[in-house]
Amino acid sequence: MLIVLVGPPGSGKGTQAKGLTGRYGIPQISTGDMLRAAKKAGTLDRQLLEMMDKGGLVPDEVVIDLIDKRIDADDCKPGFLLDGFPRTVPQAEALGALLGRRGRSLGAVLQLDVPRSALEERLVHRRSDKRTGQIYHLVYNPPPPGAEVEHRADDRPEAVGKRLDAYETMTAALLPYYQAKGLLRRVDGVGKPEEVTARVLAALGT
Ligand code: AP5
Repeated sequence: MLIVLVGPPGSGKGTQAKGLTGRYGIPQISTGDMLRAAKKAGTLDRQLLEMMDKGGLVPDEVVIDLIDKRIDADDCKPGFLLDGFPRTVPQAEALGALLGRRGRSLGAVLQLDVPRSALEERLVHRRSDKRTGQIYHLVYNPPPPGAEVEHRADDRPEAVGKRLDAYETMTAALLPYYQAKGLLRRVDGVGKPEEVTARVLAALGT
């Protein structure tokens, strides 16, 4: 099963991905997580780090290369779930070519639909466990006492606005692109996370 999760920052891609990977036995491949891991390891180019922290997109070729190397790993044989990639039409075209060369194709593109007015609030209150990556929200799903959590640099209000703009100007163009290929399934992302999960599963027909 090859699935793409598309949605604006804060729409719940990471939250939903965690449940789907367990259910289908496939890995979550998040280009954002991969870039943040490189940042932590001190191996991310300084210019890319600044682009990310300020809320801009990194160049297409950087993330295409990450995906090209990742999808041949053994754990990707049964399928995988892409979270945050592709994010531009050139990335989507590159993904089609990468999969085509391997005789594989996408099964579904899930669009998590959440209005912009709800997104800022979700991002500013997000915290992640430093060790496990578990995602929390300070109000709806607070971290347990003693958890060591972090606040992403790009979740500051000034970067959040830029990320939402980038989604609207660049990533939203993926919706008609995948609609035309008959792969797009829209899911209402407003409601409790478990309600959204039920809609996601229904959209996948499981
Ligand atoms: P990335 O890490 O992919 O971030 P993003 O797409 O901006 O998405 P987020 O992780 O912010 O949100 P999410 O949708 O996963 O929501 P979450 O589940 O955490 O990318 C970061 C950066 O890396 C980019 O800006 C760019 O610089 C670079 N990058 C990455 N990929 C790239 C690419 N392909 N091309 C170029 N650049 C790339 O939930 C958010 C909050 O809401 C949490 O607090 C959560 O608890 C809460 N929440 C979740 N669901 C609900 C619900 N149903 N109700 C209430 N609260 C909820």
